[in-house]
Amino acid sequence: MIGIREPKKEELDSYYQLRWELLRKPWNQPKGSEKDELEEEAYHIAAFDNDKLVGVGRLHKNSDEEGQIRFMAVSQDYRKQGIGKTILSKIHEKARELKLNKIVLNARKEAVPFYKKLGYKKTAKSHTLFGKIEHFRMEYPFN
Ligand SMILES: CC(C)(COP(=O)(O)OP(=O)(O)OC[C@H]1O[C@@H](n2cnc3c(N)ncnc32)[C@H](O)[C@@H]1OP(=O)(O)O)[C@@H](O)C(=O)NCCC(=O)NCCS
Repeated sequence: MIGIREPKKEELDSYYQLRWELLRKPWNQPKGSEKDELEEEAYHIAAFDNDKLVGVGRLHKNSDEEGQIRFMAVSQDYRKQGIGKTILSKIHEKARELKLNKIVLNARKEAVPFYKKLGYKKTAKSHTLFGKIEHFRMEYPFN
């Protein structure tokens, strides 16, 4: 059974490990590259198949009104089963609790249809990660 919740302190190593495996390792990026300086203050959410971690996501605040999602990923074998959507809805719950009125993110080109389906609007082209992965700025307004 899939459970989606905040990772416990003792689960954080596996949480960052999965992030690295899904979002950094395929592009030969070193351990450590899966984290930024906002980990302590950010809201983390993870999907578990019993005890096994199969999905990750993170929300941090850019300001009192604006939140940003980073490091969203679901293990290959678990994709297209609604896990990403549930991770996103937990993040939205948190954003409401924090009284944010907007969420922004930089989506990989391949993930744009996923975010569009869930109400995000593509607003601009953004950076290209590792010289290869095109990203697009996307926004979700709360009203
Ligand atoms: C993007 C990602 C997190 C989506 O997770 P997921 O668990 O497969 O998504 P879900 O199953 O919850 O999909 C929700 C909806 O979006 C659709 N969807 C998901 N991925 C899609 C894709 N690549 N193209 C088109 N539609 C997609 C699903 O079909 C589903 O539609 P439905 O509600 O009509 O059935 C996952 O594909 C992933 O980890 N990708 C690699 C890492 C990545 O790109 N992360 C984002 C970085 S910005």
